[in-house]
This record gives sequence, structure tokens and C-alpha cells, in this order.
Amino acid sequence: MDLAIKELLLEATTILKEANIPSPAKEATLLLQHYLQKDQLYIMTNQDIIVKNTQSYFDLIKRRAKNEPLEYITNRVSFYSQEFYIDNGALIPRPETELLIDEVLQNISDKEQQLTIVEVGVGSGIISIMLAKHLKNAKFIAIDISQKALAVAKKNISQFHLEKQIELRECSLLDCVDEKIDYLVSNPPYIEDGIELESNLSYEPQNALFGGRVGDEIIKKLLDEVLSRKIKFFSCEMGYDQKSKISSYLEESLFDSLTFYKDWSGFDRGFTLKV
Ligand SMILES: C[S@@+](CC[C@H](N)C(=O)[O-])C[C@H]1O[C@@H](n2cnc3c(N)ncnc32)[C@H](O)[C@@H]1O
Repeated sequence: MDLAIKELLLEATTILKEANIPSPAKEATLLLQHYLQKDQLYIMTNQDIIVKNTQSYFDLIKRRAKNEPLEYITNRVSFYSQEFYIDNGALIPRPETELLIDEVLQNISDKEQQLTIVEVGVGSGIISIMLAKHLKNAKFIAIDISQKALAVAKKNISQFHLEKQIELRECSLLDCVDEKIDYLVSNPPYIEDGIELESNLSYEPQNALFGGRVGDEIIKKLLDEVLSRKIKFFSCEMGYDQKSKISSYLEESLFDSLTFYKDWSGFDRGFTLKV
């Protein structure tokens, strides 16, 4: 069916509205921009232009109506003011993870240092990529257990031309790292297994979300590694309710300091352990 842009948007907005998608008109426009590969100005100023073969556009609208995240449909996600490739092999970056990047950068006073930084659970690559952009002399080893996530990270690393700075490795935790690590960073899965999540989260890789029976198992394994390898710095994102469990886990251990940071809503969101 051929339709003018304004008719197309009206129909698509109605479908999204009926499916209770928030901001249906905005999302219908964003998906049309993606479908036509045009910017918003083009859509706004060409409302009478006829679009042919609209079925493929409505296929995208139907996916969104089933609550598939917009980012997986458009294969684009914005993080820390940058555009990244994304697909359902990797977690969609969350805005609060920007705070983890700020946390690491704050702890590294000399940004010219030649450090070895390891990231466990690289996912789409956003953390290592953003850090590498700020720390030009640091070498990154970015690990994930998921081949699909590593494929997404690889695309993004090449989009930012950071292949020489970031090396990807497939393994669990630090099993594939023998090198001395100066800084460990991670946004690991930290949700308790079996918790019922909103339907849009069912599209995301479940091993990126669930961290074990209690939820903090991977964080604790990383803490063990940090202490036994005497890694000087470890910054990690965590669940809003995991602060006391992490503090008590470390009660008997020897380290320099443990500080927690909050997200923009005032929830505990992560910590840095200095050994
Ligand atoms: C919460 S996601 C974080 C992705 C990305 N770093 C971000 O912040 O958006 C966690 C990632 O850890 C990976 N992962 C889960 N268990 C792991 C393990 N034992 N070892 C290494 N990576 C693991 C998942 O595949 C997933 O990509």
C-alpha cells in the first residue's frame, strides 16, 4: 500500500497508542526516520510525499507494538552522547552506566598513564570504548562469556577505530587474563534469578541481567579475584539493594577503601574498591 507520510504516521501512531507504547507519535516518527533513512526535518517538511511499500514499515511498528525495544529495531543506541550499534546479542546500555565511567575517570588522575584495564562483561562495548577515548595510553582487555555480545562489541570497537587499544577475549570472569591488571571495571549481571521483569526486558539476553540465585554472586567472585590478585582498583555497578551485602562480604578483608556512589534517582548504584 502507498501512503503519504502524514497518513502513514497517523496510522502507525494509532497502532502504538493502542499497544500502550509511551510517546507513540514520537516513536512512529523515529521508526519512519529509520525506515526511510532520513532525519526528522525531512519527515516534518515532506508530509505529503508518498511512501511506497509501506508494509515493511508497518512490520517495524508491529514489532514495537509487541514492546520490542526501539533500540533493537533500529540497531542504534545513544550512550554518553555517542551513537553505538546494538542488537539483541547485547544488553541495551543504561544511562546510569555513564556514572561508572565517570567513577573510573575520577580515580585515574594521570590520564596519560600506560595502564592495563580489564572489563568483565563487555556487552556492547560502551564502557571500554568510552574509557579508551579518554585514556589514550591505556590498553584494554574486554571480556565476555557471550559470543553474540562480543560480536556487537567488535562492531562498535571498529566503528570507533579502537581495535589497537581494546582486545576482546571470550571467557568467564578473569579466567583468560594472566597479565597484571591495574584497574578492573565491570557492570555485571546483578539481578536475582527468577525475578519477574517488565516485558521489554525479555528481549534482552538473560545472562546479561541475572547474576545468580541471590543476584550478587558474580560481583562477589570478582571481589575475590580483586583481593587475591591485589588489583589496585575495582569499580563496579550493582543493584540498588546490594550495598550492605557487599560491605559485609568484605568485612574480614584487607583493603585501602570501599566507597559507594548513587545514581541520579538517589539509589546506591556502584562502588570502587581500592586495594
Ligand atoms: C549487564 S551486561 C553489561 C554490558 C555492558 N558492559 C553495559 O554496561 O551495557 C553484563 C554482561 O556480562 C556478561 N557476562 C555474564 N556472565 C559473565 C561471566 N561469568 N564472565 C564474563 N562475562 C559475563 C553478559 O554476557 C553481559 O554481556
